[in-house]
Amino acid sequence: MRTVAVVLAAGSGSRFGGSRPKQLEKLGGRSILEHSVVAFDRSPSIDEVLAVVPGYLVAETADDLISYRKVSGVIAGGAARTDSTKAAIGAIAATGITECKVLFHDAARPLVSQDAIARCAAALDSQQAAAVVVPSSDTIVEVTDGMLRRVLPRSELARAQTPQGFLFSVISRAYELATADPGFAQLAATDDCGVVLRYLPDVQIQAVPGSDRNIKITYPADLAVAEVLLSAEQQQAL
Ligand code: C5P
Repeated sequence: MRTVAVVLAAGSGSRFGGSRPKQLEKLGGRSILEHSVVAFDRSPSIDEVLAVVPGYLVAETADDLISYRKVSGVIAGGAARTDSTKAAIGAIAATGITECKVLFHDAARPLVSQDAIARCAAALDSQQAAAVVVPSSDTIVEVTDGMLRRVLPRSELARAQTPQGFLFSVISRAYELATADPGFAQLAATDDCGVVLRYLPDVQIQAVPGSDRNIKITYPADLAVAEVLLSAEQQQAL
């Protein structure tokens, strides 16, 4: 089955600061977005890559990514992450495809491994959905109004990363139901598995083991950590 990778890069990067979105920051000579695109472009599990960026960056990004063989399009995202996912679902549907595997990836995770991509795509041979997760070494607590309310059972907790993969029919149905729900925007969903779990609770989502290296660059300090991880990897490859 055809596998499409959607690289979500339409965030404004407000927590990172700066005048341009963080995904355009350089990491080892390439933009953060380009690292993410390269990872999927070179994966044997992926047939096609679709990048989702802020509207005003579509033309510039398309020029930057033109040399990558599997990049089939650069489209405009929306105000919230879920709006960007919806834009990608619309673009895939517009090609006339009715079923395929779709892997959604945060462009802000430029160090995603080939293993994580391959495992996520392979899980969709037998499951309708799959997500890369890592166990939480910290104890996770619920905090409201500055007070700890609950200590959650650590052995049952994991941190969700990306890629998150779905059969196209599943993710498009979940978003169809979400769009019809007037309360959806208030949920402020931070990932696509959350949307599937809410609107299609019978869908099983396989947990695919990830790695702590697959960090999400959110603050400037994360970029410094990513530089160190990347150069350590480049040293090992020599
Ligand atoms: O905001 P957050 O860190 O959760 O964003 C995760 C990824 O989703 C980032 O790569 C960001 O660019 C992308 N995103 C998007 N459209 C938005 C908001 C976030 O594509 N409106």
